[in-house]
Order: sequence, then structure tokens, then C-alpha cells
Amino acid sequence: MTKRVFVSQYVYPDVVDELRAAGHEVVARTDDRPLPAQELREAVRDADALVCFLTDRIDAELFAAGPRLEVVANVAVGYDNVDVAAASAARVAVTNTPGVLTAATADLAMALILATARRVPEGDAYLRAGRYTHWKLDQDQIGADVTGQRLGIFGFGQIGRAVAKRALHGFDMNVVYHDAYRLPDEDEQALGVRYAELDELLETSDFVSVHAPLLPGTRHAIDAAALARMKRTAILVNTARGPIVDEAALADALADGTIAGAGLDVYEEEPAVHPRLLEQRERVVLLPHLGSATTSTRRHMAAIAVGNVIDALAGVRPRTLVNDEVLTPDTSLRTGS
Ligand code: GLV
Repeated sequence: MTKRVFVSQYVYPDVVDELRAAGHEVVARTDDRPLPAQELREAVRDADALVCFLTDRIDAELFAAGPRLEVVANVAVGYDNVDVAAASAARVAVTNTPGVLTAATADLAMALILATARRVPEGDAYLRAGRYTHWKLDQDQIGADVTGQRLGIFGFGQIGRAVAKRALHGFDMNVVYHDAYRLPDEDEQALGVRYAELDELLETSDFVSVHAPLLPGTRHAIDAAALARMKRTAILVNTARGPIVDEAALADALADGTIAGAGLDVYEEEPAVHPRLLEQRERVVLLPHLGSATTSTRRHMAAIAVGNVIDALAGVRPRTLVNDEVLTPDTSLRTGS
């Protein structure tokens, strides 16, 4: 039986065509802006599957509006935009795109560490403004060392570990991590990292890089009190989810010198950025959520989401299923047909 798939925002046409090649009827928006919630609900009324993005809110109301939905394939590794409990209650499979964006996101975290510490955007702006008149020992963009410094990684999943690898092997850094899950000693030794309580990590690190998922327990984990624990010379980097950091508290901490700098790729109310952060230019680098933004990574993410829809609609467990509780004992997945 033909199934209907709704693709909520632009996806590469050749990747969308894979859904058609699998025999599905596809409505794919070509607009790259998110639909208002009500329009998204209307769009899934007859849909069996939804390909969606981190800018789409997927909640109980949406599942009620789309009673045929069998699978929601989020084109992102993070799925805090999806109410997974509501999905499971509605017996809808939820999938994400882990793995393929690990390297790109870890690379971007390193880019932010380097760009903030070595004041790369400031140097670029200075030169373009015609202000580079001569080299001098005490240059205007004197920065901080990265090599050999201590990096504290908050959230030690695939991306946190990939950052640790880069920091250890590329920059000879001393790496501590904090996570709800502590690795066995032998794994820590093999990786060359050490577990630290969050307070110790904050107090002793020269760079703190956030790689945790957004959960009730990590929302505002980096608040005014956490920032106050950091070294005055420290730099905070966040390529995970904006609400893990209290943005107003961070703006205060940067303005009053509680910490030295910040490199952010994500924001509390994306795409809005706290106005007082926008005012900060020294050692503050602000990017528009570029973590996974390489051509091959974004194509891989879209392809995984589409593959998950094809599997789920065929009653096969999608490879990156988030809510295993929708599986039934007799079939891989409960399908709507
Ligand atoms: C991007 O932020 C993602 O979660 O994939």
C-alpha cells in the first residue's frame, strides 16, 4: 500500500527521490523555513511519515493531528524538539542522525576554541578595516595558548570523545570530562582522559566545551554560579544546545570579566541571540549553528533520515531508532497498515 511522507523543509531532491523510488507518495516542501505549528499539524493529517528538523516542534498535539503517523525522522542527532514520550504513547517511531556528524561537530568545537583563544575573527576584521599598518611584538590581538592547556568536556558522548581525541593528539591538551555516565577506568586510561566532578572541571579548565544533550537535568547547567567557578582566563564553548547555558548569565560573565571569552554555535532562543552577547566582540565568536554544516555531513544526515523512513514504513527497525519501546515482540515495528 502506498504510504504518504511529508518532508517539512528543504531536503536535497535526489535524497527525497529515494522515498519515491521506495514507492511512497511524497509531499516535500522546498522552503527552508520551518512551518508554523498549526500548518505543520495540518500537513501531517494524512501522512504516514514525517521527515523533520530541529526547528520543528514535534509534540502530542502533532501526533493527535496526524493519527496515521508511524515514524518521525528528525534530521539531527539532538532530538530535544521531539516529545519522545508523547511519540511512544502514540506508538510513533522517532529516529535521529547520530554518528555522521560527530567529526564535523568536533572539528567546529576545535575551531571555536582556536578562534576565541587566538582572536581569529578580530584579526580578520582589523585587517579588512585597513588597521594592520605594521607587525609589532605586542600586537592588538594577543591571545591565549591552546596547546598544552586543560580542556574540560561537559557531556562525553560521541562528539565529546571526538573533541577529546583532537585536543589530546592535535594540541597536547590535558582533558577532563564530566558526564552522567562515568567510563570504566581502563577506558579512561585508553583514551587518556580523567573524570572530574563538574565543579572541579569548571574550576580547573582553561577551556570548557559543552557536548551534552539538552535534558531537564542539563538545562542551564552552566548558569551564573557555574560561570563564577570558572577561571577568569577561561573560555566557554557550546556546540550542543543553547539552553544548556544561561545566556543572560553568560553575557554578564563576559561583561564583568568573570570569564575571558565564549565561542557559541547554539543559542537559547535560536535564531535569536541575547543582545548583550552581540555587543561583545573581544574573544567572543558567535556562529549560526554550523556544527554539522559540511556538504557531505548534511547529505549523510538527510540520507539517514530518509533511510529510516523507508525502513520504518516497511516494518523494519530503523537503524537509529530513539524509542525502542515502540517495537513489538512479534514484528520489528508496529506499522499502521
Ligand atoms: C544539530 O544540532 C544536531 O543535533 O544534529
